[in-house]
Amino acid sequence: MAPVDVPVALLGYGTVGAAVNRFLHENADNIERATGHRLRVVRALVRDLKKERDFPAAPGVLTTDFAAIADDPEIALVAEVMGGIDPTHDYILRLLRDSKPVVTANKQLLAQRGADLFAAAQEGGVQLRFEASVCAAIPVIKVLREALVVTNVHRILGIVNGTTNYILTQMELGAEYGEALAEAKRQGYAEMDPTEDVSGADAAAKMAILATVAFGSRVTLDDVNFEGVERITSAHVNAARQMDMVVRLVGRATLVEGGYDVRVSPALVDCAHPLAGVEGAFNAIMLQGDAIREITLEGPGAGGIETASAVIADMVSIIGTKGTGFLHDDACWRTVDRLPAGELRSPFYLQIAVDDRPGVLARVAERLAAHEISVARLVQFQTGGGAILHVISHEATYGAVDEALAEISGLPESREIAVAFPVISQRGISELGWA
Ligand SMILES: NC(=O)c1ccc[n+]([C@@H]2O[C@H](COP(=O)([O-])OP(=O)(O)OC[C@H]3O[C@@H](n4cnc5c(N)ncnc54)[C@H](OP(=O)(O)O)[C@@H]3O)[C@@H](O)[C@H]2O)c1
Repeated sequence: MAPVDVPVALLGYGTVGAAVNRFLHENADNIERATGHRLRVVRALVRDLKKERDFPAAPGVLTTDFAAIADDPEIALVAEVMGGIDPTHDYILRLLRDSKPVVTANKQLLAQRGADLFAAAQEGGVQLRFEASVCAAIPVIKVLREALVVTNVHRILGIVNGTTNYILTQMELGAEYGEALAEAKRQGYAEMDPTEDVSGADAAAKMAILATVAFGSRVTLDDVNFEGVERITSAHVNAARQMDMVVRLVGRATLVEGGYDVRVSPALVDCAHPLAGVEGAFNAIMLQGDAIREITLEGPGAGGIETASAVIADMVSIIGTKGTGFLHDDACWRTVDRLPAGELRSPFYLQIAVDDRPGVLARVAERLAAHEISVARLVQFQTGGGAILHVISHEATYGAVDEALAEISGLPESREIAVAFPVISQRGISELGWA
């Protein structure tokens, strides 16, 4: 049977866009065998027609005119791989309202304006798919939406940013934060301006999208409490190692009776936990639910060809489910409230630098007890004229820990601002700590 010819367009022809075109060329026969369709890039929107491209497009494909895509009735679907909020938001709205299905790799746009985009998709009666927006080649959106459709996923733990994971694993090998970041840039894992990655904003957008899909309620970037890796020092990494743990930037989304909590922060992860073994620029997502107990997906979370493979899988899914009624509408079907920011509970690791004077330990313990933070393990190491207290607590609320830390940091004996990281372990907390 003759293959069905499917003209498609790209918004953007950079790292991902050129990889999509290359992939479609090199795998055209495989795609045809699997789907009976031949996808052909007929237009790609760019800013600069003269720029050199990794995989040059055929003559006449590149354009700087969005109307050449929006007004072409032949184009069956569009993949948005240009990034940014403006003008991308307006472009996608226009395409969806005009009944052109869209695939996007744009996590910030979805996490900030997802509601508008899905409303436009519904208006146009077409699909908006977004697998590539979360962890590139790891098919977590498909798993959540299709494979786990009847499972109540109530907890997600994820290492969803490869740049920061690379930095933290370099620090485990002895590098200081600045050296590790410079190496990440040299290796192409970090942008020249790495702010979105190191501040946790990139991971926060991905966690907002994952929580939205898993919990069926809209979670936007504004609903995510996030902190990055900028204040991590080798002292934290070394302390973690002594306790048989590693520092990781962990996104966690939790659904409980009465609300949800989504946050991103550095955490100490027990070496026996599956997330501790995720090294370098790799990503992993652990899904916990009623029927499945737990599923962990791990793989490359970025890269041109990895992201392109997810973009193309979504394109093929759209073509394969057209007219079948298997529409991927907005994942949201209810409104779940956000829990008050400090209410979530976790065990914590606290690092407190104090003068080495009689009575200091008692004062620190008193501030912890005042906030109902119960100490599971404590060791003290001497430094020149002072001491560093390393504490592992039983479960406490984030709010209580923040308040206790502020009070401890204000004690006259305090040498620097005390820090706390949640601890992630599947063992009993009293088994953690120093041998
Ligand atoms: N790279 C990855 O590993 C990765 C992983 C996951 C998700 N993503 C997402 O994929 C998207 C694309 O990433 P990328 O790495 O491919 O970016 P990129 O290399 O910077 O490419 C962006 C492309 O979009 C075009 N473009 C940007 N703004 C435009 C505008 N206003 N009008 C017309 N064209 C415009 C650029 O044109 P010129 O070429 O003419 O400048 C370029 O071709 C982003 O949303 C990103 O977050 C990327």
